[in-house]
Amino acid sequence: MTRSHPAPRHGAHAGSTVTVRAPAKVNLHLGVGPLRPDGYHDVITVLQAVSLFDDLTATVPATAPGTSTTASTPTAVDQPGSDTSTGLEITVAVTGEGAAGNRPATSTPDVSIVPTGLDNIAVRAAHLVAEAAGITSARLHLALTKGIPVAAGMAGGSADAAAALVACDALWQTGLDRATLAELAARLGSDVPFPLAGGTALGTGRGEQLTDVLATGEYYWVFALADGGLSTPAVYAEFDRLSEGRLRSGPTPADDVLAALRTGDPRQLGAALVNDLQPAALRLRPALRRVLSTGTELGAVGAIVSGSGPTCAFLAAGATESIELAASLAGMGVARAVRRAAGPAAGARVVAGAGTA
Ligand code: C5P
Repeated sequence: MTRSHPAPRHGAHAGSTVTVRAPAKVNLHLGVGPLRPDGYHDVITVLQAVSLFDDLTATVPATAPGTSTTASTPTAVDQPGSDTSTGLEITVAVTGEGAAGNRPATSTPDVSIVPTGLDNIAVRAAHLVAEAAGITSARLHLALTKGIPVAAGMAGGSADAAAALVACDALWQTGLDRATLAELAARLGSDVPFPLAGGTALGTGRGEQLTDVLATGEYYWVFALADGGLSTPAVYAEFDRLSEGRLRSGPTPADDVLAALRTGDPRQLGAALVNDLQPAALRLRPALRRVLSTGTELGAVGAIVSGSGPTCAFLAAGATESIELAASLAGMGVARAVRRAAGPAAGARVVAGAGTA
């Protein structure tokens, strides 16, 4: 049976396309308090956006789903999927980090593979924009080019969600303001408002309440990517096991990191880095100890597990030092891959298509 669609109530026509780029993050400070009754933990965190990006291209397909479109020609590493659960018909293709074609098939669910149905957070973000704008029928193709490692403690999924919010708003010309997008972002996940904003920010509550911080200077990071991902809830659960009965007060304040950011001195910032989830991540991935110590021995001025891991983040003294550190770290063979990035980076923004000049 052929389904007919009422004219979609949005400003996009077939072939319209928008590309949005969204950054990864590293937690400079992640203080974690006790488990709350709602299953979350109060946190005090300082986040910095770094120049590892996911690009999301949102397109209104020219032809019906199931027939070929010009929007995406699947390649060996594409992972096409679709969500047709409502009046929105959304197809997804993933290229790069986390594409199914990059990994051997396993029988167990793999958190490091990006899903392509309704469980893809970018798809959920598109649904929220449609709902907020009163769009009940639309077809959409989301092509994700992932440079941010998946389930790696760098908020890659959150970046995709932030990118989808901005892309759908631009594509459908829904004109949602930044405050509304930030509110939708917080509904999608604790870490989603930050890649929308970018820069360097203090996060409180479950991490979603952001305040700008006074930060000077540019910071040069080296990231050691690990094989496979870590599930954020699993790391928080391990944190609860490790801290059972001993954690009565709230999360540790971020004063040292905030003071270091005002100086712009990477050595001071490196010495002030804190991640309360690090012991839990190391319990789940003991091999990360060696990665951290290797980076320190190679001259990093700061070494920390990024968020819930398993990526290890190293702060270099400067740009040249970061190039040397990345090369040496890659040569040691302790990581799946090594990436360099600078922070702070900009938040999710349109880089091609509607909204650009
Ligand atoms: O907010 P989000 O859905 O991304 O969080 C995923 C999971 O991470 C939560 O279900 C919870 O287990 C854990 N979490 C937490 N405390 C936070 C943020 C996340 O316990 N502040």
